[in-house]
Amino acid sequence: MSNEQGKTKQGRWYTEEQAATGAKTYAQACAPCHGANLESGAGPTPKGASWQQLYGGAKLLTVWGEIKGPMAQYAGTTFANQQSLNLLAYLLQQNGLPAGKKPLADTRTLRHDSMTAEVLGRESRSSANSSLRSAAGGSAGGAPRGQ
Ligand code: HEC
Repeated sequence: MSNEQGKTKQGRWYTEEQAATGAKTYAQACAPCHGANLESGAGPTPKGASWQQLYGGAKLLTVWGEIKGPMAQYAGTTFANQQSLNLLAYLLQQNGLPAGKKPLADTRTLRHDSMTAEVLGRESRSSANSSLRSAAGGSAGGAPRGQ
């Protein structure tokens, strides 16, 4: 276990192939608001510091719930569990988490303490659980901005 700043690379929870599948969905459903390269737009960038602020230390289930709930709604669609997992895989990849040999395929695994969104190398496991919405239930939070 290494906690060296910028070096912590947990995971290998998804495959490259899965992230590529997620990327296609992202391009259609998410890019209009978050940017084709996750550079942001009407929505914040789901990458880097912004990701860390929202999710650092949070369980992946929270992020998954965010995608499956409010973000699907923002995109005017619904996602199957697996589609949301693929999108999550893509976001993990874009946030620097290395791919592995097995796809993310079971939402129950996202509850494990080891599966957090702590992917940028910060040691924020205990400090960052504060302001998170419990998104897994699909709290839809307000209308999208910019329309
Ligand atoms: C209509 C615009 C819109 C669409 C489409 C949209 N989002 Fe968002 N997204 C937002 C806004 C605005 C926020 C800021 C938080 C909020 O309002 O709930 C956000 C927040 C987020 C966050 C958390 C922000 C962060 O900094 O980490 C993630 C992750 C995310 N979106 C992913 C997605 C994904 C994946 C999709 C595609 C399925 C998607 N979004 C589609 C507008 C959108």
